[in-house]
Amino acid sequence: MKTLYLSNDQQDIARAAEILRNGGIVAIPTETVYGLAGNALRGDCVKKIFDAKGRPSDNPLIVHISDISQWAPLVKSIPESAMALAEKYWPGPLTVILPKSDIIPKEICGKLDTVAVRMPSDETARAIIDTCSFPLAAPSANTSGKPSPTTASHVRADLDGRVDAIVDGGECSVGIESTVISLADEVPRLLRPGGITPEMLTEVLGEIVIDDAVYNKLADGAVAASPGMKYKHYSPDAEVVIIKSSFEQYKKYIDENGTSDDVALCFEEEVSDLSIKCITYGKKDDPSSQAKHIFDALRQVDKAKAKTVFARFPEKEGIGLAVFNRLVRAAAFNIIEL
Ligand code: TXA
Ligand code: MG
Repeated sequence: MKTLYLSNDQQDIARAAEILRNGGIVAIPTETVYGLAGNALRGDCVKKIFDAKGRPSDNPLIVHISDISQWAPLVKSIPESAMALAEKYWPGPLTVILPKSDIIPKEICGKLDTVAVRMPSDETARAIIDTCSFPLAAPSANTSGKPSPTTASHVRADLDGRVDAIVDGGECSVGIESTVISLADEVPRLLRPGGITPEMLTEVLGEIVIDDAVYNKLADGAVAASPGMKYKHYSPDAEVVIIKSSFEQYKKYIDENGTSDDVALCFEEEVSDLSIKCITYGKKDDPSSQAKHIFDALRQVDKAKAKTVFARFPEKEGIGLAVFNRLVRAAAFNIIEL
């Protein structure tokens, strides 16, 4: 298929919505990462999304809404705690899981009896959902197993010819996928860290459980609360090693072990002090900037065809936990502590 390239002006938003209304699939910007959208209420559209990404069919999709009134029809009921979260953090980078209603096609959530819903804050995403007037199912718009896309050109690199259109809304402002919290059980469970931090969730919900898969590798054969956690996430062809140390120790380690075939995945301020090729992911004490740049940096690592990548260890505070969660997967949990 020929992919149509659209801007995010009013006319192109109308064209994107028309394609979606006709059952097509369109990559759209959101504040987190680009999503590959289709009509969430039509199983045939949802199936097209899985096919275009090469995504395993048991890994469920998030449903995107632009108005709170679109939520109730998708779920069995909305508990007070869920409404309190929505009031505080929607629109924004938060996904809430609840038991699903019967209008959710089985293609969206496989065998699960729950559905994940999010209201994005990105103006283009909201305008497209508004114009369609149905909710949009949208996973990240990357080929399954690649880093999530944070620009339209990332999407193009992965999905050109596989989707009906790509809407260019510029660079995503958060840069990392939404926080996913399940309210389907008694105690709220954080399944994926993101822009809404554990502290921000606790403020509204009180006690939450952080799923083991957030920090650790899932044991072979274990059942994942969030199916996405069990799949091998993006790891570059290079061996990625995270170095947990001070900058001085990191520099010394690279001076002793780095070669011209290797890359330092470091912070912007550190480039001039290092002796090998550097790819940066944000600023040193600024986890938000690290979140914004980590996926682009991982794409650059692949292009550089490095043998070994020595990555700086991100602080796990706030949104830094989400940065750590993505980086440690890219590194296949390979951490050296000095
Ligand atoms: O920021 C985001 O969430 C982006 C943008 C496009 O909105 N979307 C996104 O979708 O990251 P995706 O499909 O790449 O990741 C969705 C994650 C997966 O790990 C999936 O397993 C989990 O959410 N998930 C979805 N529905 C679920 C459910 N009912 N129960 C448990 N986990 C669920
Ligand atoms: Mg994804």
